[in-house]
Amino acid sequence: MRVALYQNYPKFGDVENNVKQALAAVAPHSFDLLVLPELFATGYQFKSREEAMSYGEPVGSGFTFDAMKELAIQKKAVVIYGYPELEGGKIYNSAAAVMPEGSFVNYQKVHLFDTEKQIFEPGQTGFKTFDFNGARMGLMICFDWRFPESMRRLALDGAQIICHPANLVLPHCPQAMIIRALENNVFTVTADRIGVEERHGQRLEFIGRSRIIAPDGEVLAEAGDEEASFLSVDIDPSAADNKQINERNDLFADRRPHFY
Ligand code: ACM
Repeated sequence: MRVALYQNYPKFGDVENNVKQALAAVAPHSFDLLVLPELFATGYQFKSREEAMSYGEPVGSGFTFDAMKELAIQKKAVVIYGYPELEGGKIYNSAAAVMPEGSFVNYQKVHLFDTEKQIFEPGQTGFKTFDFNGARMGLMICFDWRFPESMRRLALDGAQIICHPANLVLPHCPQAMIIRALENNVFTVTADRIGVEERHGQRLEFIGRSRIIAPDGEVLAEAGDEEASFLSVDIDPSAADNKQINERNDLFADRRPHFY
């Protein structure tokens, strides 16, 4: 299975061009799974809840969803992307996984970061896994990495590949994802963005360094911190299945949750 990510540099609010630019960047490539960053088409730093709502799309429809669905069909791939989700008069920081036959899975970010708490509602969907081409994938978004329970939940639910749209501003996540992969014996695909946003007086620099990591912690592919980048690697998702790390230790069977 070929897994891929695209690390972009969106211009805040320019949804049409940001989508067009991502489509052009991935067009020459083939893949079975593509992960795009958190809020990849809108940009990150909304001034207000109302502004975020003005860019929101309901789950399963809208300009960005339609473009991602078309891409999934063209590439016969699952496409995962972050977007502001309008639901019931509220706005969530969400990720959708769109399958080539048109079905989709939606995840609302559980752990909101910093000023996101002034914009978005805390997610209500819970962590989501789904199957595609014989592999099980799981969804989490950016700051969810800081809570080991996020990826543990997905791994306990059988996820072999953790799909992780991100907009990272702190430096620690790229290294931490090696540990998260090892803790759970899973593949991880972190699709981050680069560039700067400076709105309402706060300057944010996004760190890039998107990564694809193997269950043994090996970094299979890595982007830099300044360039938009497409990365892809061929993996065997079943490498995530055996949680036995030696004759006597199994990462899941040895857990003793009543002591935690
Ligand atoms: C983040 O969760 N976007 C840092």
